[in-house]
Amino acid sequence: MVSYKDLGLVNTKEMFAKAIKGGYAVPAYNFNNMEQLQAIITACAETESPVILQVSKGAREYANQTLLRYMAQGAVAMSKEIAKARGLKAIPITLHLDHGDTFELCRSCVDNGFSSVMIDGSSHSYDENIILTKNVVEYAHKYDVTVEGELGVLAGIEEHVVSSVTHYTKPEEVQDFVSRTGVDSLAISIGTSHGANKFKPEQCTRNKDGILVPPELRFDILEEVEKRLPGFPIVLHGSSSVAIEAVKLINQYGGRMKDTIGIPEEQLRKAAKSAVCKINIDSDGRLWMTALIRKTLADKPSEFDPRKYLGPARQALIEMYKQKNTNVLGSAGKA
Ligand code: G3H
Ligand code: 13P
Ligand code: ZN
Repeated sequence: MVSYKDLGLVNTKEMFAKAIKGGYAVPAYNFNNMEQLQAIITACAETESPVILQVSKGAREYANQTLLRYMAQGAVAMSKEIAKARGLKAIPITLHLDHGDTFELCRSCVDNGFSSVMIDGSSHSYDENIILTKNVVEYAHKYDVTVEGELGVLAGIEEHVVSSVTHYTKPEEVQDFVSRTGVDSLAISIGTSHGANKFKPEQCTRNKDGILVPPELRFDILEEVEKRLPGFPIVLHGSSSVAIEAVKLINQYGGRMKDTIGIPEEQLRKAAKSAVCKINIDSDGRLWMTALIRKTLADKPSEFDPRKYLGPARQALIEMYKQKNTNVLGSAGKA
């Protein structure tokens, strides 16, 4: 058993309480490799933002769970070094399992240094979701690990489960779900979805520049949920904004991405001011990384040192995460 407390990590309790009071959201950024982790930590340490490092089941398999744990421990040390060198506040860091799909996976993460886990029972029936989630909560809470549950289904891909339609969260279920499971936070479905193609073009309108504008998130559902669960931490998945500039670069340098549409940043800013205190972003990091790798390799065709093309990609990620913390989530300066 490795406790997250020995790694210098924290669970999400205090982070979320402060975020709700302060009207901002904590960034939950996914990572799979060293450059992504370096970028997240650098950006969050330099903007003094709390951060949730998110690891999916696939990322855990890709990176090796033991190595991941040491990487998270290293991330804590690195963030402290940055803070000390610049005279900034040290930042709280959570290591979180994203979209855990079984009790066993969640238990293994609790046993291996994670300070928070998500059990995503949203593909099960309501009653099965409750049983599964409650079991995970009972185990995780013994070790002071916080648990995120999910009600409602996002369209897109959730850990190999593909849903072509959105099933919005039913506000009338949330109180019962939270009280029967004991979860610490709840992911809800209000129109966001995973990946870089969040809406079909026919669902969107065009603005004066011809750019596709997606339909508004269902803030009415969010408000209903907040009324029924006052002060309770709400989570938004599928919240990448899918920058046109990143997609343009990808396509300019040999990529082929079509109909990409994300969540407008103003809508995320609005959500962050509410009970939404965790916003999940993965695809935006993937897009900028791919864009810069493609560009660098095209500009320098004889280059074969990975540092020379991963370095610019990492720098683009640092800038993107800083701008999210500062202008979208409002978490900068809240460490
Ligand atoms: O919500 C899913 C995350 O973007 C993780 O994706 O399962 O491909 O690692 P992944
Ligand atoms: P995006 O695909 O919109 O980045 O969502 C990521 C996510 O929800 C991870 O759980
Ligand atoms: Zn997600």
